[in-house]
Amino acid sequence: MPRETKYVVKGGRVIDPANGIDRITEVYIDGQIIERVGGKKNFQGRQIIDATGMLVFPGLVDIHTHLREPGNEDAETIDSGANAAIRGGVTTICCMPNTNPPVDSASDVRYIYDRAQEAPCWVYPIAAISKGLKGEELSEMGDLAYAGAVAFSDDGRPVSNSQLLRNALAYADMLGLKLTLHCEDLQLTNEGSMHEGTVSGLSGIPAIPGISEAVMITRDLLIAEFLGVPVHICHVSAKESVHSIRAAKARGVSVTAEATPHHLILDDEKILDSGFDTNFKVNPPIRSREDIEALREALADGTIDAIATDHAPHSPHTKDKDFINAPFGIIGLETSASLIYSELVRKKVIDEVRMVELMSANPAKIFDLPAGALTQGAFADITIFDPEKKWTVDANQFASLSRNTPFAGWELTGKPVLTMVAGEIVYNETGE
Ligand code: DOR
Ligand code: ZN
Ligand code: ZN
Repeated sequence: MPRETKYVVKGGRVIDPANGIDRITEVYIDGQIIERVGGKKNFQGRQIIDATGMLVFPGLVDIHTHLREPGNEDAETIDSGANAAIRGGVTTICCMPNTNPPVDSASDVRYIYDRAQEAPCWVYPIAAISKGLKGEELSEMGDLAYAGAVAFSDDGRPVSNSQLLRNALAYADMLGLKLTLHCEDLQLTNEGSMHEGTVSGLSGIPAIPGISEAVMITRDLLIAEFLGVPVHICHVSAKESVHSIRAAKARGVSVTAEATPHHLILDDEKILDSGFDTNFKVNPPIRSREDIEALREALADGTIDAIATDHAPHSPHTKDKDFINAPFGIIGLETSASLIYSELVRKKVIDEVRMVELMSANPAKIFDLPAGALTQGAFADITIFDPEKKWTVDANQFASLSRNTPFAGWELTGKPVLTMVAGEIVYNETGE
């Protein structure tokens, strides 16, 4: 379909928190852009997309995705990751720099934009804080920003050197960008493989306590507070971390934080039940019921601002090891919206509007991305979500090249059924 097509999406419940919209109305699309939401009904000369009974919201924005290109294209390419995204209703992804080689030079950033040109959704690179992600020397942050990096991160590892972090926070702020921090005290992590709790105690698997994360988050927030600069915290998993972030927000620290669907839904008992399936192995680890409850409260009260997938593909043979030796990582792009809808919205932990805020409006705001709202003149990035559609997670059906999901076989209710990126329908399972 050429992009000059004029569409009207009619009959759906349009949820656009950035513009305060939540009602049944029409969305008019002209070519690549949003013409208007609501107003006088006029369907003439338009392709009609009937969204009766559906939720219609700005395309989801995932600010924490791992693509494996360059270096490990067996696990994921930029294109396969983008295809996974659109099947999950995600229209914008920000990819982490821990590729091989890592994204720590301007030419690496440009390479991603080049490769992403053919991809079916928007792909924005996050660049390395430190050269080679080694945590020793700052990358050329100015060059990286100029080349189009949307944020900086050493994700996969913490920035252990406090002085390096201080300088990185200060430079990033001068460049108008944020750091997005993987927080972990490596001494407390102590080469653990799962959460330190009852299940690790029973199994004898070396464990990572919640305070490994919280100690580092607290340090990072103190440094950001001292400098008076904003900072974003990746994949919050522990109740101690929630307390630290909540307290920082209360004293006015400019912090935003994300949580993943897996940390919001799974607890370590599930790992036991699975017989230590390595698809549950992730860093930070799947924690306890208490941690989940703390994260859910934090979603509802605004301590956590966004949901991000931390989509971390690993090819099947690399996960085919015992729990201690398998790599950390869970894929999430194709299940994220459905999991949040099934497990949190339908169970009344959050409502639909908050879901869209957490998965689209807020993440776009955090990195100042041109997304997350159905504003007149914005790119027409739209997700149509069927709240009644029942489906079973089958990793073999994924567009992702990897299969490492702990949710295989889960029966979910609610699914993205049509995804539009810049006025083009890039995914459609409505049958129309
Ligand atoms: O589970 C994880 N996987 N945690 C990380 O920090 C890195 C990621 C990856 O790149 O596989
Ligand atoms: Zn991480
Ligand atoms: Zn990550």
